[in-house]
This record gives sequence, structure tokens and C-alpha cells, in this order.
Amino acid sequence: MARASPVLLILLAIVFSFATYNLLTTIIRYRSTGSLVGDYSDGMLLSDPIVARPKNVRRVGNSKSLFHVALTATDAPYSTWQCRIMYYWYTKQKVMPESEMGGFTRILHSGNPDNLMDEIPTVVVDPLPAGLDRGYIVLNRPWAFVQWLEKATIEEDYILMAEPDHIFVNPLPNLAHGGYPAAFPFFYITPAQHENIIRKFYPEEMGPVTNVDPIGNSPVIIQKELLEKIAPTWMNVSLRMKDDPETDKAFGWVLEMYAYAVASALHRVQHILRKDFMLQPPWDLDIANKFIIHYTYGCDYNLKGELTYGKFGEWRFDKRSYLRGPPPRNLSLPPPGVPESVVTLVKMVNEATANIPNWGKSEAQ
Ligand SMILES: *[C@@H]1O[C@H](CO)[C@@H](O)[C@H](O)[C@H]1NC(C)=O
Ligand SMILES: *[C@@H]1O[C@H](CO)[C@@H](O)[C@H](O)[C@H]1NC(C)=O
Repeated sequence: MARASPVLLILLAIVFSFATYNLLTTIIRYRSTGSLVGDYSDGMLLSDPIVARPKNVRRVGNSKSLFHVALTATDAPYSTWQCRIMYYWYTKQKVMPESEMGGFTRILHSGNPDNLMDEIPTVVVDPLPAGLDRGYIVLNRPWAFVQWLEKATIEEDYILMAEPDHIFVNPLPNLAHGGYPAAFPFFYITPAQHENIIRKFYPEEMGPVTNVDPIGNSPVIIQKELLEKIAPTWMNVSLRMKDDPETDKAFGWVLEMYAYAVASALHRVQHILRKDFMLQPPWDLDIANKFIIHYTYGCDYNLKGELTYGKFGEWRFDKRSYLRGPPPRNLSLPPPGVPESVVTLVKMVNEATANIPNWGKSEAQ
């Protein structure tokens, strides 16, 4: 892929802010009508009619069921600084007793080695042929997984599909059980509300559209052999969805998430939905018993510690402030009154950047 021009980066920033704004209004709607997927009791979904599975079955003895952490990424500075922080926290949490984290691979889908090859275990794969992604770069993810699964020797039986803006806030156990992968339910993935569109890719004979889980490919912990079946279908469905103007318009920036959800349903794979898999500041407030901080939303607060979402806060942390290079070390902590999730996020970013050698230098192109 060609290096992104400043104009493209600015455009991306605008599109993202707009998408985030739309998400916000949707979140507010859902917050007032109650959660879409219901609550957990003992780790089990009560109100979801499709996926109700037993809570963690105790593993026999103390043998661990390791999963390989697979992080899809590009060589853009915006991706590399997030990957370095992500990998730092992986190495810290992996050695904790509760962890079932195995090896780590950054699947670099920009086609060429970059300057992090020595710092992070990396496999280079090809981007989609020019033009095929039509500017929607995340379509490269399914293709990246297809190539990686073909060429890599993966020791672990399970794979976690992760993204650069994930931080392991607690050691992650294997949340999957046999043929049931574990996934995070996203409130904005609503297959039942898009029945007509889903049906174009998920024929009636496969069953009700509610078989399509409200998820994306990440975070998901899944058996390697299942992912080997699903990944090519995921790629195929992504491209067909992108090719269909009505679907492209309806799903927009989350098209590839729907494509994964549909592809796994086509293979009759149902996911255990784990709301505790991930937390998303500033909406989720505490970190207890959660595993991954996903810092996709901007965190804006005034000095009284009140959220000013959508308006620049007097204090703010937003990954999109750092599209062209990494945040500086030692970011200022939020004012008093800001939720634990946001404070922890900034402290974890600071700890990582303080300890990663040459922070702010090696990304310079
Ligand atoms: C997707 O799969 C269908 C049927 O299995 C096939 O006809 C089609 O060519 C595939 N499309 C792509 C883009 O791979
Ligand atoms: C980090 O910044 C704070 C002020 O925000 C300062 O007091 C502190 O000494 C700095 N720490 C390091 C390690 O630079």
C-alpha cells in the first residue's frame, strides 16, 4: 500500500469522528432503553435467546488451554505505536498465573517488513490486490488471516484475533470451549434489524437470521481449525458485501464485522457472548473482571471530571490525536472524578511508553 497522504489522513479523521458521533447517538438510545444483549449472571447470558451456554467448565487438572494472540496491523505510524503498547501489555499479562495466553504474532498486512520486526514477532502478508478494498482498508483483515493460517505453524489449538487498540488490562484466560468460540457482543451489530440484507448472504435454509451473532472478528477466541474454515468464507462474504451497494451502504464501516458474523454462521459456528471480554472507555467505567481495554472512543472531560463527549475536553485522550506518530511519554493524568477505566487506560499507556526503548524515535519514518 502506498504511504497515506496527509489529505487522506485528514479525511479518515473526519470520517471517523462522524462515525463515532453516529455511534454516540446510538449508544445514548440504547443506554436509555436498556442493554441489547442482556446481563450476565455467573458469566452466562440470561436474556439472549440463542446463545446460552454453561459458565466456565472447570478444566481437568491444571492443564492450560493456550491460545495464540494474532494481531492484524499495518506499517502506518498510527498502527505501529498502538501495536507496541499492545505487545508490551501482552508480555506482562502472559506470565500471570491466570493467563492462558500463548505465542504472539503481528500479522503485518502491508506487504513489506517494517521497523518493528525485531521488537514484535511478525509475519508479513500481502495486502489485497490494488483496488479490491475500494479504500476500505479493513477488508485486508480476512485476507491477512487466510494467508497467515496457510503459511504459519501455530502451536496453540486456539487463536485470539486482536487489534492494535487493545490493551490487556487483566491476564486473559481461554474463554472459548471446544467448538464454541468466545466473542464480545457489540450493541451496534444487529443482524435481526437487517434481515433483508443478511438474507442475501445467509440463505433461509440455514435457519433464522438470529443465528448470526452480534459480533465482529475481534475480539474472538476460536479453535484454529474452525478459523481455518471460516476465514476464506469471511473473505468471500466481505468482498461480496462490499460489492453490493445496498449492503455497503447499510453496513458502512462495520461491514467486515457483519461479514465475519455471517461467515461463522454459514459454518454453523455459534459464539459464547462475553460482555466481560472487553471494556470501552469512556462508556464502561470500571475494569474489575474485564480483560481488554478497547480505546476506540475519544475520552473528553472538563476539569470537573465531567464527560464532554463530542466536544474537545479541557483534558482529553483520543488515539486519533496521534494519526501521524505516537503520543508523547508521560501523558497528563485526567482530573479527579474521571472514571477508573479512563485513568487506568492513561496509566497503562504511560507505563508502556516509559518502558519501550526509543519511544517516539523508531516510528519516525
Ligand atoms: C465466493 O463464493 C462463491 C460461491 O461459493 C463463488 O461463486 C464466488 O466466486 C466467491 N467470490 C469470491 C470473491 O471469492
Ligand atoms: C510526568 O509528568 C508529571 C507532570 O504531569 C511530572 O510531575 C512527572 O515528574 C513526570 N514524570 C516523568 C517520569 O517524567
